[in-house]
Amino acid sequence: QAFFKPISSADPPSPTKRHTKISVVGAGNVGMAIAQTILTQDVADELVIVDVDPDKLRGEMLDLQHAAAFLPRTKIMASVDYAVTVGSDLCIVTAGARQNPGESRLNLLQRNVSLFRNIVPPLVKYSPDTILLIVSNPVDVLTYVTWKLSGFPSNRVLGSGTNLDSSRFRFLIADHLDVNAQDVQAYIVGEHGDSSVALWSSISVGGVPVLNFLEKQQIAYEKETLENIHKAVVESAYEVISLKGYTSWAIGYSAANLARSILRDQRKIHPVSVLAKGFYGVEGGDVFLSLPAQLGRGGVLGVANIHLTDEEAQRLRDSANTILEVQAQLNL
Ligand code: NAI
Ligand code: LAC
Repeated sequence: QAFFKPISSADPPSPTKRHTKISVVGAGNVGMAIAQTILTQDVADELVIVDVDPDKLRGEMLDLQHAAAFLPRTKIMASVDYAVTVGSDLCIVTAGARQNPGESRLNLLQRNVSLFRNIVPPLVKYSPDTILLIVSNPVDVLTYVTWKLSGFPSNRVLGSGTNLDSSRFRFLIADHLDVNAQDVQAYIVGEHGDSSVALWSSISVGGVPVLNFLEKQQIAYEKETLENIHKAVVESAYEVISLKGYTSWAIGYSAANLARSILRDQRKIHPVSVLAKGFYGVEGGDVFLSLPAQLGRGGVLGVANIHLTDEEAQRLRDSANTILEVQAQLNL
């Protein structure tokens, strides 16, 4: 006996909303922060978590399932077997070693590249049409590695990149100016790391270019104030890692925000790690780094043509070279 007496004998209407499925690889601090945010924000119909630790996986899955009464209905699965990821619309990879206090992201390269050789092929096998979103560090180089290992077109491989750094940047500017961070349009581009680049010339607050805003508000500022804000962004992760051992909440919101833009075809512009060769004078090899890119159901739809000052463009090329130098160590 069905729980509900059907209102009419008509066949149920065919589902108009396409079923969306996200797989998160890595059930650690970051993977679970992303999973939790995806559930809270109702980003997908199905969430799958993969890891190598079966007990941790089952524990995290059950713990999330037990919140069902407080969350939008989402099917939650977990397994060490990648078959569970079959037909994923989006795969988010957070597996891998994280920085020890004081360690740079680039130091993680060799450990995490070897993991990716075992993670990327099964994801591709079970979801040949998926979009791959890389979070593990060093995220720019690992996004390049994923692109090479997957054989996917570059629009379906991206890294979370400086979407997180830009949020930190917007928070600090908003705090400095006592405005809402969502009214601050500001991009950090380049490496998600020590060589990132703040695009001061294109920052606006409520549509007003920030440098004019500061002048209009008679807010005294020197160039080093602006540089100090960018320096604080670069140092953010090191400080949080030294205090709590890792970062998780901000990247959780950042990655879920990217997942929504992609799966809900928002066509929003985000600073994310994309194949940058040929853009903004970046040459010298296939390199992934963050540029303001439009995201939608097809993944990376295009790169915004934002004006960069000569200094900003040079810093971006320097950032690209930093990544290429590290990438040269790889034998893919
Ligand atoms: P964690 O140590 O808490 O979790 C890593 C997880 O990966 C563990 O559960 C482990 O069992 C799993 N794992 C290891 N090998 C695996 C494999 N072959 N297949 C599937 N799962 C595997 O580390 P946490 O804090 O979650 O950080 C994860 C990564 O995310 C690190 O590389 C970290 O640097 C990076 N990260 C990147 C950020 C960004 O903005 N791009 C921000 C924060 C962290
Ligand atoms: C961050 C590091 C861990 O939180 O990538 O930015």
